[in-house]
Amino acid sequence: MQGHFTYLKERIEDISAREDTSIRKVLKQIDKGALGIALLVEPDTGIFKGILTDGDVRRALILGLELDSAVSNIVRPKSITASIDTSSEQLSKLFGEAVRIIPLLDKHNKVVDLALFDTRIYLPVSEPNLGEKELKYVSDCILTGWVSSAGKYVTRFEQMFAKFCGTKFGISSSSGTTALHLSLLALGIGAGDEVIVPSFTFISTANAVAFTGANPVFVDSEMETWNIDPQKIEQAITSRTKAIIPVHIYGHPAQMSSILEIAGKYNLAVVEDAAEAHGALYKGNKTGSLGDMGIFSFYGNKIITTGEGGMVVTDNKELADKIRIFRDHGMDTEKRYRHSVLGYNYRMTNIQAALGVGQMERIDQIIEQKCTNAFLYSKELKNIPGITLPPNEKWAKNIYWLYSILIDEKKFGMSSVELGKRLKIKSIETRPLFPPVHQQPIYDTKQNLPVCEKLSNSGLSLPSSTNIKKDEINRIAWEIKKIKNQTTNEMF
Ligand SMILES: Cc1ncc(COP(=O)(O)O)c(C=O)c1O
Repeated sequence: MQGHFTYLKERIEDISAREDTSIRKVLKQIDKGALGIALLVEPDTGIFKGILTDGDVRRALILGLELDSAVSNIVRPKSITASIDTSSEQLSKLFGEAVRIIPLLDKHNKVVDLALFDTRIYLPVSEPNLGEKELKYVSDCILTGWVSSAGKYVTRFEQMFAKFCGTKFGISSSSGTTALHLSLLALGIGAGDEVIVPSFTFISTANAVAFTGANPVFVDSEMETWNIDPQKIEQAITSRTKAIIPVHIYGHPAQMSSILEIAGKYNLAVVEDAAEAHGALYKGNKTGSLGDMGIFSFYGNKIITTGEGGMVVTDNKELADKIRIFRDHGMDTEKRYRHSVLGYNYRMTNIQAALGVGQMERIDQIIEQKCTNAFLYSKELKNIPGITLPPNEKWAKNIYWLYSILIDEKKFGMSSVELGKRLKIKSIETRPLFPPVHQQPIYDTKQNLPVCEKLSNSGLSLPSSTNIKKDEINRIAWEIKKIKNQTTNEMF
């Protein structure tokens, strides 16, 4: 049989029951678990005793067993299990029309994982969109031997990307994180300084500040854009504040006019973290081009990818020159092997840049596809109670890096985490939104940032690859509606 495995370790607890549990209780558990089975286990040891399908239970009821009798009274066929060490090849031979889930046991006979077999196409949250051009340019690097950071593709990629953003300079780097670090180094930020960042972001935004010895100061987000709330920035400014890093989260621009106005008032630099927002527009201008500098990531799940990679864009020549020096071991541009500042090796390779050049030739197409997919999702999901669609302000062009929704647990009937688990069973991958950075063990500021916490707790990113087809988006929306209807029925 053609198909793929999904592993569902996180479901084991939800569907495990003791043999002395009543049929009534186990039926509810099977319904809630949404896998059509319960795992019977020994109470204290967790040792596997057998699989009970909803078919086994219903047949037993027809034959006259009472709802209050224990499930141990149900006659059930022998369960198919496998050892946790079983290879995928061996596993696939065990599946059949009637066998869709196989408990995987450790040497003590405890269930340590579940393998679910599915013949439907697996829909990932993200996958790169690569083609012939990328292959051709990367092959060129290999055939010519220009595989390190010198080579024609690096400059070409930097120029193409700067032009795309509408800035004078583009300075590539080894990642979005190093691009952030470089931009802060160029501003001279260091120990004792403070830099304002949203807490609702990926950890790199704050870590890059910490790399310089400065402290990240966390500010809450606004519900309208999910980005840093400009109204809460001023109260976070102190005499030590040197810069603000607004993040254009999930592809929607932050409120740049207000942020730039505050920065101007307090003489602060602005570095836009546009790692997720290539091509997004703030009032008609490209994100990344509005502050003193903008940074981008080209990690494999980003709008375009170079495998790993990053870029700083700016109109400021002085900053651009400094970044080039910090990126290249702090080496003087005038004199080889002379190092006046402490620098890093943060260079992008020619191979990465070759990928980037190939990707730049289709970036507009990729963004258009992201927007078309978002439109299709929103059309299908807009009237479902308990679902909030991604931000889409009038003055902005969201490029929907990941199409992410918020789930109101009360109105939808289950949490975003539970919805994610149920979609996984249907071969649909989802991802929670970023957890609040101020609550990460390395920062743990004990602040109360309610919007950020709400976004993190209720958000879910749906499959957002540009390879996804219209009918696959319809399938996802249909599954979400079906899951919602099932929970509504469970509630009444
Ligand atoms: C908002 C944000 N900033 C910075 C980064 C860092 O980029 P990279 O992974 O390329 O270091 C990422 C992504 O991973 C990101 O999402």
